[in-house]
Amino acid sequence: MKKSYKDVMDRKSEIMKNALNLDYTKFEKEGIAFDYEYMMNYSGYTLDDVKKIQIENNIGNTPLIELKRITEYARKFSKKGYGARIFLKDEAANLSGSFKARRAAMSIHQAKKLGYKGVIAATSGNYGAAVAALAARAGLKCIIVQECFDSKEIEQPEITEKARACEAYGAEVMQLSVGPELFYQFLVLLEETGFFNASLYSPYCIMGIETLGYEIASEVKSKYGKFPEAVICTNAGGGNLTGTARGLIKAEAFDTKVIASSVDLTGLHMASDNDFNKKSFTTGHTGFGIPFSTFPDRSDVPRSAARPLRYMDKYVLVNQGSVFFITEALALLEGMERGPAGNTSLAAAFHLAQEMKEDEIIVVQETEYTGAGKHLNAQISFAIDRGIEVKVGNPLEEIPGKNIIFPTSGQYLKIKEISLNDLKKSYLKHYKGMDLLNTDYKYLSEELKCSEQLVKNIMEELNEE
Ligand SMILES: Cc1ncc(COP(=O)(O)O)c(C=O)c1O
Repeated sequence: MKKSYKDVMDRKSEIMKNALNLDYTKFEKEGIAFDYEYMMNYSGYTLDDVKKIQIENNIGNTPLIELKRITEYARKFSKKGYGARIFLKDEAANLSGSFKARRAAMSIHQAKKLGYKGVIAATSGNYGAAVAALAARAGLKCIIVQECFDSKEIEQPEITEKARACEAYGAEVMQLSVGPELFYQFLVLLEETGFFNASLYSPYCIMGIETLGYEIASEVKSKYGKFPEAVICTNAGGGNLTGTARGLIKAEAFDTKVIASSVDLTGLHMASDNDFNKKSFTTGHTGFGIPFSTFPDRSDVPRSAARPLRYMDKYVLVNQGSVFFITEALALLEGMERGPAGNTSLAAAFHLAQEMKEDEIIVVQETEYTGAGKHLNAQISFAIDRGIEVKVGNPLEEIPGKNIIFPTSGQYLKIKEISLNDLKKSYLKHYKGMDLLNTDYKYLSEELKCSEQLVKNIMEELNEE
């Protein structure tokens, strides 16, 4: 087989099809649409099947903790009668320390069921450790492909830590510098080994997260007699929010608002060698959150099962300094030392709770473990070494890549809201100038959680520009 970049990319569809044993053409419809629900239900797994698979692997049923002291702190800065109760789903209690184990459990189950000898995942984050841990339990071989350093071979500490975790679980880790070779290497490995593509974006993976939303809704309902008013999810590739929202719907929590939160890294380019090590967060940031929301099929499967704009009611951003601030607050007030991704949502929830009534409930839907490379001390030292200025002040003035600004008190921890209409417009730009069918408008209205009329209006605007 020829191995040039072009040769391998030309064989992409074939490689993908063999590596997931899933023919996505089944779900395609006329025009631009595809049948998302058909794809999600095609495997035949029910929510109960998913729960059972996860319980067999010691995953799920994690504690839901009321953060009484954090709530009390937030109420110091809110109007009388305001300051919602903040709860936290302690997903760090999962095998390998994050909600990603829920996803991995389903990938590995499917790989094993189909008779693959091993699995491959392209990820620099928690998902690698989760796949490696679950593959170890299932007796499958595992290869993780990571983008972990820049061209000067300087490694981001969090990703290095993740490589160690993957190796500890017996996986082979291929470490690459930032750039386009990741996807190429991934395809070559899938073809050479015949292993399963444990993509983060397969229907199995997203199904695995539905149990998380379901657990939150059922537990809050059974303890407090109502569903939570809001659930906040840290957003990167969009699977976390999509799966959680689908689980909330399966529990019939139709009125619970689903809020996305990301770290604001505006101005830093994810594929840039120069910017790679200027950020202190490796996930849950706008560098993934915005492009994946507005073009979900940029992922490593033909149709991504992570489609966050289908479920999102609000999208807010927090700065890096505020996430570090709330990380310390969680440790100092609640005795919980947790990692950056979950705390991104906690920082936003801390502010949002102040605008909600005191009898309302906001749930931060995950924590992740923390450790040597993820810890804020490691990240702040790394940032200082890269010439980033670290100071206290107004967090809204932080310039990603130049400085990190901590609020002096919780009072100054602020958020920025992104316009969902702007995101919808960016999504629709991909169809600018095309003749869309009536069925396409229906599909787009489902993709963007809005009326067909709004889709038509935005398309008209775009076509006139
Ligand atoms: C702990 C944790 N939380 C949240 C996210 C974001 O999830 P998603 O990429 O599905 O949006 C990630 C992904 O890397 C993660 O590892």
